[in-house]
Amino acid sequence: MTMKGGGLRLGEKILFGIAALFVVFAVISFIGMEIYRAHSGKKMYASASTFDFSAQGRVGSERFRELGCTNCHRAVRNGTNHGVGLDGIGSRRSAEYLAAFLRQPESTYQTQTLEHGPGKRAAYVADLPESDLRAITSFLSEWKAVQGSPDARWPEDTHSGFIDEMVKIWAPSTWKSQYHDVRDESPSATPPVGPPASPSASPSAPHEDH
Ligand code: HEC
Repeated sequence: MTMKGGGLRLGEKILFGIAALFVVFAVISFIGMEIYRAHSGKKMYASASTFDFSAQGRVGSERFRELGCTNCHRAVRNGTNHGVGLDGIGSRRSAEYLAAFLRQPESTYQTQTLEHGPGKRAAYVADLPESDLRAITSFLSEWKAVQGSPDARWPEDTHSGFIDEMVKIWAPSTWKSQYHDVRDESPSATPPVGPPASPSASPSAPHEDH
């Protein structure tokens, strides 16, 4: 094929044309989205966690940043996503678990750890002074996920026909006798602040007889 005179073949023109359209579409969408975002008062990513820190929890949140945890973990508007996300972890893990994990990560974590544990990059965490470990445990266990968000133990308080439908379609009928529906134990408000985060400790949980 010579470049002189011929230029692109029809098929090539169509292919390049389609690719160019995609690029133009992506750029326009991005600009449109940014303009929309700048002008709308709504937050694009609603915050899914809340915190109401005790004095010790506040100290813990400072130590969390000072001790390099945010090199790997993202916390309250700081840090990276290199390690596992800890957003709202107080609703997922009990204070006992967190205290144990910080001291003996390898025997506490359900699978093998990559970074916490002797000889690994976050090995220093287990050797921190007791006061730091206690403060960080308070901080993490007081950092709750908003009910209904992915990290929360309980789904939203409102009844959802969609979830009923999904359960009907996807959950094998044998599950109904083997497991109870977590929605039946839904607390009326957010989980209690402070340790432990287990549902049975919730004073507002209406059903504790499972
Ligand atoms: C070098 C990166 C790194 C650093 C630094 C680090 N972490 Fe982690 N962290 C991880 C990774 C990765 C995991 C998942 C477990 C593993 O593979 O070690 C984890 C897991 C955790 C967990 C358990 C989460 C769960 O759901 O079980 C907690 C709690 C935690 N880190 C707290 C901390 C605190 C507090 C610090 C600072 C004192 C810290 N981490 C520093 C990488 C890091």
